[in-house]
Amino acid sequence: MGRTVQVTFPPLYPKQYEAIFSPARYSLTEAGTKTGKTLGCAIWMVSEAWANDTHDDVSWWVAPIYAQAELGFNRMKSLLPPDLIKTSDSRLSIVLPTGASIFCKSGEKSDNLFGAAVKRAVVDEASRLREESWFALRTTLTQKRGRVRFIGNPKGKRNWFWRWCQLAKAGQDPEAAYFHLRTLDNPHVSREEVERARLELPPSVFEELYEGLAQEDGAGVFRNIRACVGECLMSPRTGRVYLAGLDLARLQDYTVLTIMDAVTRQVVHIERFNELSWNLQVERVKTAVKRYNDAMVMFDATGIGDPIYDQLVTAGVRVQPYRLYGEAKNQLIEALSIVFEQKRIVIPPDRQLIHELESYEYELTDQGRVKYHAPEGVGMHDDMVISLALVNLLCERSGYLEPTERSFSTALLQDYNIQVVPSGIEYAVQQDLQRFLARRHESRQLVEVE
Ligand SMILES: Nc1ncnc2c1ncn2[C@@H]1O[C@H](COP(=O)(O)OP(=O)(O)O)[C@@H](O)[C@H]1O
Ligand SMILES: [Mg+2]
Repeated sequence: MGRTVQVTFPPLYPKQYEAIFSPARYSLTEAGTKTGKTLGCAIWMVSEAWANDTHDDVSWWVAPIYAQAELGFNRMKSLLPPDLIKTSDSRLSIVLPTGASIFCKSGEKSDNLFGAAVKRAVVDEASRLREESWFALRTTLTQKRGRVRFIGNPKGKRNWFWRWCQLAKAGQDPEAAYFHLRTLDNPHVSREEVERARLELPPSVFEELYEGLAQEDGAGVFRNIRACVGECLMSPRTGRVYLAGLDLARLQDYTVLTIMDAVTRQVVHIERFNELSWNLQVERVKTAVKRYNDAMVMFDATGIGDPIYDQLVTAGVRVQPYRLYGEAKNQLIEALSIVFEQKRIVIPPDRQLIHELESYEYELTDQGRVKYHAPEGVGMHDDMVISLALVNLLCERSGYLEPTERSFSTALLQDYNIQVVPSGIEYAVQQDLQRFLARRHESRQLVEVE
């Protein structure tokens, strides 16, 4: 006699249920991260497969890369009692007691996605799946009029998923239904955590990752780039404070030195060169920074670090090393994205620089961390971005203020008798700025009381 087993799944929150259990043949869900797309679809797939109760029921879970297919596999496996199912960790397959089978597949090669007669499929991270892989999957659905849940974080507007979402949203595809979920829609996500991400991330990145809204250009780490372009390159002037950012060439790329006016935040000078010996690079950097009133340089000291640092110091260049590991790199890029967002920077109409800024990308790692980088591919560089980001960070940390607040800046310098001393400026000005701001706040309150 057969026994009855009850398998319970976590209840979906209403918007999640509506999207994933939509009766439409194709449901397209454009959503923020952690909205429960993967969990919701895992529940959909195993419950529908089980309910169908036939041994020739085949389901496919397709993700852009193998590691993501594995996430889907592990989610579904964890929902089911282990003694009732047969699984293969190497094939990423699950067989239910009804005989129905589920396979999790990587979409890296579309050739792997032909063949079976698929009854239902999930396409996870759809905006990142190659279009040919969707075409291949489509052929497997014909025999059984298979249904599909497409779920994903938007990734710009240059992909098939985004285009199809537009059609479905406009009601122009009778077989497709469109849904949109924000991270804050998921009651199981901490509000505080989302608000923190809103403050930390570049706004365009936050909008894609948390609001589920596709941004204008695919990459979209920096906004307002063109609004920040102006004629700003100029020769050094006496009395101005200049700061510099230096990204040294590695194997394939360029050395870039960017010099900025610390107060007006105009990029006044850029040098980009390659195929030079270290000695010549140091010489060239030295000549430029000396010319610009002995500008202090923040340089990327990751990897090649120390010997070059010593060489620069010996050459009399005032340097601050910065190591671009993990969180430090994120902070560097996020600080640059903020000044573009607020239009507090002026860059020259340099085609290479604008191209690098516009194509700069972010990705969400499997651990849920944001990672920034230049797009992969021949001829893609990020040396100009990194060099600019370094000088920008140096400007921000040095506490030189905007032109509109110049009088305040002078007051600050007088109040605390701050000397602009070579290597000490960063911390001296920072600390005193804090104290000054605190005091200014106090005195204002006193005035109000009177
Ligand atoms: N209906 C739900 N009930 C309980 N927890 C949920 C629910 N939906 C999602 N979660 C939890 O929220 C987190 C994000 O879910 P996940 O499916 O990984 O999101 P996404 O694929 O959208 O990034 C997970 O910890 C998951 O367990
Ligand atoms: Mg997911």
